[in-house]
Amino acid sequence: MAESPVLNDHVRTLSAKIGPLDILFRPMSRNDLDAICQLEKDIFKSPWSRRSFEIELSRPEYSHSYVLEHRHAVAAYTVLWFMADECHIANLAVAANYRNRGIGSWFLKKIIEIAKDNRSTIIHLEVRTTNDAAIRLYEKFEFEAVGIRRDYYSTGEDALLMSLPI
Ligand SMILES: CC(C)(COP(=O)(O)OP(=O)(O)OC[C@H]1O[C@@H](n2cnc3c(N)ncnc32)[C@H](O)[C@@H]1OP(=O)(O)O)[C@@H](O)C(=O)NCCC(=O)NCCS
Repeated sequence: MAESPVLNDHVRTLSAKIGPLDILFRPMSRNDLDAICQLEKDIFKSPWSRRSFEIELSRPEYSHSYVLEHRHAVAAYTVLWFMADECHIANLAVAANYRNRGIGSWFLKKIIEIAKDNRSTIIHLEVRTTNDAAIRLYEKFEFEAVGIRRDYYSTGEDALLMSLPI
């Protein structure tokens, strides 16, 4: 099996301030999964299963997952896939009580840095066509809509495919 390109080897815990919040950015671990699975159920209509996250954590050759922690609670998390020179944001969420405080923006900026460090030349993602908050966040970082995937979600909703060359 191929070695992990660079990411979890050198992206370690990092302290930062987002507004007044002291946060930790770090790789996701199995110890986070109780909290993350609860957030998934609270946030998404089609939540990922615990098994899905376990599979992601067992595939460091292409899957890298991170959390933002505040006072020992998971405030946000992401799952990134790296394939050839592409980074795919497979999952990204901010806990409801942490939204609209710049956490999503800080996280996305960090994701872009990680993708560049990993020699990606483009970032892709899918987002529900009705998810205005997320679409605005991505547009703020100059992601562009490049297509629609019909019936992409198990709920029958369409996905907007967005990309950012980096
Ligand atoms: C989308 C999401 C990650 C944004 O996180 P956040 O921490 O609230 O984001 P920020 O506070 O950094 O806001 C970033 C930008 O998002 C947009 N935004 C955030 N909330 C918004 C809302 N309710 N309505 C419209 N735009 C919104 C704004 O453009 C904002 O920029 P601005 O503050 O400069 O105007 C968060 O709402 C979330 O986790 N939603 C549920 C999960 C989800 O949809 N994930 C994305 C799946 S693809």
